[in-house]
Amino acid sequence: MKKTNNQMLVIFGASGDLTARKLIPALFNLYVAKQLPKNFVVLGASRSNLTDEQFRNKVVYQSPYLKAKIEHLKENYIKGFADRLFYEDLGSDYTAEYTSLAKRISTLNVANGTDNNYMFYLSTPPSLYEPIAKNLADVGLNSQEEGWKRVIVEKPFGYSLETAKKLNTGLQQYFKEPQIYRIDHYLGKETVQNLLVTRFSNSIFEPLWNRNYIHHVEITNAESVGVEKRGGYYDKSGALRDMFQNHLMQIVSLVVMEPPIGDQPEEIRNEKVKALKSLRIMKDEKTFFDNTIRAQYVASEINGEKVKGYREEDGVDPNSTTETYAAIKFFVDNWRWEGVPFYVRTAKRMPTKVTEVIIHFKSPHHQIFKDSGVNNKDNKLIIRIQPDEGVLIKFGVKVPGQGFKVERANLDFYYSSLAQTYVMEAYERLLLDAMQGDATLYARADEVEAAWEFVDPILNYWKNGKDVRMYGYAAGVWGPENADELIDDLGFWRNPSSNLADDPGYCVIC
Ligand code: BG6
Repeated sequence: MKKTNNQMLVIFGASGDLTARKLIPALFNLYVAKQLPKNFVVLGASRSNLTDEQFRNKVVYQSPYLKAKIEHLKENYIKGFADRLFYEDLGSDYTAEYTSLAKRISTLNVANGTDNNYMFYLSTPPSLYEPIAKNLADVGLNSQEEGWKRVIVEKPFGYSLETAKKLNTGLQQYFKEPQIYRIDHYLGKETVQNLLVTRFSNSIFEPLWNRNYIHHVEITNAESVGVEKRGGYYDKSGALRDMFQNHLMQIVSLVVMEPPIGDQPEEIRNEKVKALKSLRIMKDEKTFFDNTIRAQYVASEINGEKVKGYREEDGVDPNSTTETYAAIKFFVDNWRWEGVPFYVRTAKRMPTKVTEVIIHFKSPHHQIFKDSGVNNKDNKLIIRIQPDEGVLIKFGVKVPGQGFKVERANLDFYYSSLAQTYVMEAYERLLLDAMQGDATLYARADEVEAAWEFVDPILNYWKNGKDVRMYGYAAGVWGPENADELIDDLGFWRNPSSNLADDPGYCVIC
């Protein structure tokens, strides 16, 4: 097990939702798993006027997100965690100077032996990243002379290529790139990391992982919820910025990348950047028109319940042209993937919540069993990111009896079958990695920019294109019907259910 140094985590925006909903529960899990360093404190900082005690009440004792975890635990044990939390009121403005914050950090550091190692978590709007970084630098809190200093930033990391570059250079004026950790919670998911392991720790997949054997790659990310209470944010973002530019591009890079030389963070990240840079950037109106589809959900009924359309949601402009569904077809211009289409879609208000990667293999070069009925059923490798996490291979088996009738059967693995294994939640894993200085699962500046280079022209086309359309789909269905047209000769997406093996494959019950 890697060593975790004594340290202090300073959370900017600590009175916000993310701290109570994700960060503190993740830290609490690390506390229970005895993964926190011996000397460790959290200093919440934001503009609310709270005392240490009030902060502890808010994010621990009275937190709805910790309720189930703590209700059966002894008071003293919970206190052992809560007493490590402190709070500093930043006054009315994050941009006012940080002398008193620096004093508080120094006092806590001496009192708790955190060895001058500080992690600054910026859970604030991105417009505050640079001012906060500057203010920290002004009081010497970026200097690594005594103890390390790291910054974690949350998405959205930019609104466009230009703004992402500005954010990067803004932060890099005050912190060096290796000190900056850009969080993408999808990289914290075990099943996303398992993409690397599936590919590079098995000798049976990698030889087939190329244009000679793969017909196309399909990635679906579906959510059953709508925009919930985030209409205001979402309407300025949309599916492409909210999910595709970050989480899905990360998944794409892991599918596309070449084998790294080893498992060191920079070796893996170098290959991911190379992969993202090899995506063919769309240029002309026809390519955009033929390869991108955007849509919005409209009012409908789901299980007998009336559901609002996107434009009726709180915080959303009634004439909004923000997409809640995005489907993109693209190619990868490199030796391995030449000519293999990738189909990637993400959307809200789909029939179920599911994320999966499907590798569709080509049909056998020479068809021996011509009348077997199997011609249009390719071999598939389905890597299920969530839920019902696992891996499924669809392959042909002979139907017992005369002749050679072939059916598809399933070969499957489920994470849930590893009953004894504790699976860390995404934030827990990512926080622990950053605390240990491991940036493998964090996005580097050039990675983020490479993803924007691909996404930016699509957003521009959707904003300014002549023939661009916005389709509608009833809340609760698999998007607009014409999205199937994107999938050329195949004509349809695999619409997964909440179980990995939705169709059981070939089986005989009696
Ligand atoms: C977030 C998006 O990054 O990811 C949300 O902003 C989305 O809109 C969420 O709902 C999905 O995450 P998960 O882990 O539930 O798939």
